[in-house]
Amino acid sequence: MSKKYTITAALPYANGALHLGHLAGAYLPADIYARYLRLLGKDVLFVCGSDEHGAAITIRAKKEKRSPQEIIDTYHQLNKQTFEHLGISFDMYHRTSDPLHHQTAQEFFLNLLDKGGQFEEKVSDQYYDEDFDQFLADRYITGTCPKENCGNEEAFGDQCEKCGSALSPTELINPISTLSKKTPVLKKTKHWFFKLDNHAAWLKDWINKGQIEGQFSHNPAQWKKHVLGQCASWIDNGLHPRAITRDLSWGIPVPIEGAEGKVLYVWFDAPIGYISASKQWAQENGKNWESYWKGSSVELVHFIGKDNIVFHCIVFPAMLKAHGDFALPKNVPANQFLNLEGRKFSKSKGWVIEQHQYLKDFESFHNKEDALRYALIRTLPENKDGDFKWDEFVALHDNELVANLGNFVNRVTSLTHKNFAAKVPAYTAAAKLKDIEEGAVVTVAAAMQQLKQKIEHLEASITKYEFKQAVQLLMEISSYGNTLLQRNEPWKIWKQDPESVEAAALLNLSLQIVTALSVLSQPFLPFSSAQMRNLLALDPVKDGSLAQLKIQLEQAGVLIEEGHQIEAPQLLFAKINDRKDKSRMELVEQQKEKLKQLKALNTKTEIPQKQAYKATCTFDDFTKVDLRTGTIVRAEKVKKANKLLKLEVDLGDEVRTIVSGIAKHYEASAIIGQQVVVVANLAPRKMMGILSEGMILMAENANGQLIFVSPISEAEEGGVVK
Ligand code: MF3
Ligand code: ZN
Repeated sequence: MSKKYTITAALPYANGALHLGHLAGAYLPADIYARYLRLLGKDVLFVCGSDEHGAAITIRAKKEKRSPQEIIDTYHQLNKQTFEHLGISFDMYHRTSDPLHHQTAQEFFLNLLDKGGQFEEKVSDQYYDEDFDQFLADRYITGTCPKENCGNEEAFGDQCEKCGSALSPTELINPISTLSKKTPVLKKTKHWFFKLDNHAAWLKDWINKGQIEGQFSHNPAQWKKHVLGQCASWIDNGLHPRAITRDLSWGIPVPIEGAEGKVLYVWFDAPIGYISASKQWAQENGKNWESYWKGSSVELVHFIGKDNIVFHCIVFPAMLKAHGDFALPKNVPANQFLNLEGRKFSKSKGWVIEQHQYLKDFESFHNKEDALRYALIRTLPENKDGDFKWDEFVALHDNELVANLGNFVNRVTSLTHKNFAAKVPAYTAAAKLKDIEEGAVVTVAAAMQQLKQKIEHLEASITKYEFKQAVQLLMEISSYGNTLLQRNEPWKIWKQDPESVEAAALLNLSLQIVTALSVLSQPFLPFSSAQMRNLLALDPVKDGSLAQLKIQLEQAGVLIEEGHQIEAPQLLFAKINDRKDKSRMELVEQQKEKLKQLKALNTKTEIPQKQAYKATCTFDDFTKVDLRTGTIVRAEKVKKANKLLKLEVDLGDEVRTIVSGIAKHYEASAIIGQQVVVVANLAPRKMMGILSEGMILMAENANGQLIFVSPISEAEEGGVVK
C-alpha cells in the first residue's frame, strides 16, 4: 500500500480572528510541509477546521449578546476565507458544529465506553450558579490568583493569564460567577473521566523510544527537544484521570441515558475533529478516509503551538490507542510562541496583528501574501520564541525578496528578452564560466550539479521540519545564480560578441535556476511561484512537479528547453523602502505608529526604585565567572518548596541539574526549550536535598516578574558568554 500522509493543523477556536502568532505557530509550517509533500507527488490529506465548542465561544457570545451560533458562523467564515487568501492549502476546512462531527465524536465516546476500563464515573463538587441554575465551566469563574506574588483579581478558573499558571476553580480566592456576578456554591455532579493513568507506561516507551508493542513507530531523535521535554515532564509528574464531560448546554451531548445536560469536554471532541474533517473530505472526493488514519502506511503529523503539546502527544494518542486501529502520530513538530515587537500578542491590549486586518491594511501592496509569509517563515519560533518586528519585515522583504530573488528573476527574464528575443538560448554543458569564488572556473554541467546538491540540502531541512533554514537555502540558490551573473557580466560580453557561447550558456543556466526556483519556492511563496511560472510561460506547478524536476535533472540535465519562449519581465516584489514611491513604507509606518501609541498607553509613568549599584569588581574578578548558554530540557516543581523549580539544563556535553527560585513566575512545562545563560562554575550546593550545579540568570520587568536572560538568536549549547 502506498504511503498516506495525513497532516493536521490545530483547529482554531471560532471565537475570534486569528493573528500572526497563530499563523507562524501552526498553519504556515503545516502548509509548507503539505505543499512540499504534494510537490513530491505524495498522497497527502491536509485538514483543519473550526473548534466551535468550549466556554471561550459561549463567553464571547454572552459578552456580545449574540448566540454562540452567530459567533461561530462569523469567525468560521472569516478564518476560512483568510486562510484561503494567504494560500494555506487545506484540503478540508471543517467545523466541529457539523452533524458529521457530532456523530463521529459520540461514536468515539461510545466505543471507549463499550470497551470498559477506559472511563470511570466520579461524583465531585463543582461550582454552581444558583441564580442561573447551572454548573459553571472553569472559564465562567473568576477570582484572585492563589499564587503568591501574583494577586491577579481576574484570574480564570482554569488559568491565570497574568502569571500563566494552570489553575482549577476551587483554588481561586473569592470565586465569582461571571453569569450572576455572585459567589457560586459547590454542588455534586457526576462526570466521566478518561483513565489516562492506565496509558502512562506505553506512552512513555512510545514517546521516548519510538516503540509501541515492540514495533518501531518513529525515531524520537527526530522529535523536537522541547516537545520531548514537555512530554517527559507531564509523564514524570504522573498522569491522572481526566474529566471528559462537562455540565454545559453548548457542545456535543453525552450520548447516554442519565447524562442529560452534559456535553463532551471540548478537548475530547476537538481532536476527533481531524477525523471528521477527513470523513467529510472523503465523502466529497470519493475517497476512503480510513486509509488516511488506519494501518501501517499512514504517516500522521500534527502541527500545533506549544500550548497544545499535552493534548497531541499524550491525551489524543491515548484516545486513539484506546479506540484501537488508529495510527499514532509520526511527529508533532510543535512550535514555540511568536511575539510582536518584543511583547506577547494580546488581543485585549490591542497588541496584535490579525491576519485579515493585515490583508485589509495592505490591500494595495503588491504580493502582500508572500511578503507576510516570508517574514514569518524567517522568524518561525521553531525551537525558541520568535519576534515579529516591522523593521525586520521591511528588511527581509527589501534585502532578500527584492534584492535577491526578485532581482535575479528579473535580470534573467530581461536579459533573455533583450539578447535572445525572449527565447531560451542554447545549453552547453562544457561551457566554462567564472565560478563564484574569485579566480575559480566552473563548467555549466558542474554548476547544474551544484544546483542539484542545493536542492538536496533544502529538502533535508524540510524533512526535519526546519523551515526557517529551508527558506534560507532557497534564497541561497537564487543568490548563487545572482553571483554567477555578477562574476561573468554577460551584458559586457554581448556588447563585443553577441554570439558568445559562454554568455549564452550562462543565461541558459540562469533560466534553469529560475525554473528550479519556480518549483522549489512553491511551498513557501506560492503566489510568487505562480508568477514565476507565468513569466517562464510554463504550466503552474502541480502535484509531483518536484519529483519530475529531479528526474529531469538526473536524466536530461535541463529543466527548460532551448528555444522555449518566455513572457515579458515583470517585478515579483516592489521595494518597500523606496525613495521614489513612499506608499508602501507609509503602510508600514502606520502599523509602527499604532504600536507606539499602545506602548505609550501601557507604560507606567512611575519610575521603579532601582537597586543601588554594587561595589566595583576588577576585570579579573569578573572573568572568574564562567557564563555559558544552555537549554532547559526538563523542569519540575520541587516538592514542599513553592518557589523552586528543579531544572535540567543541556550544556552540550553535559546536562546539569539546577535548582532555581522561579516557580512563582513559570509553570514547569512552559519553559522547556528555553535557552538560558548559566553560571557554570558556581560551587554546587544542596537545596531541599537536591544538588544544584549552577545558576541561571534572570532579569526583572516593571511588574516584578522574572524573565529569562537569553541569547537573541539560537546560540550553541554550552557556548561561552563573554
Ligand atoms: N482550539 C484549540 C486552541 O486553539 C486547539 C484545538 S486542536 C485540536 O488551542 F486538536 F483539538 F483540534
Ligand atoms: Zn496569577
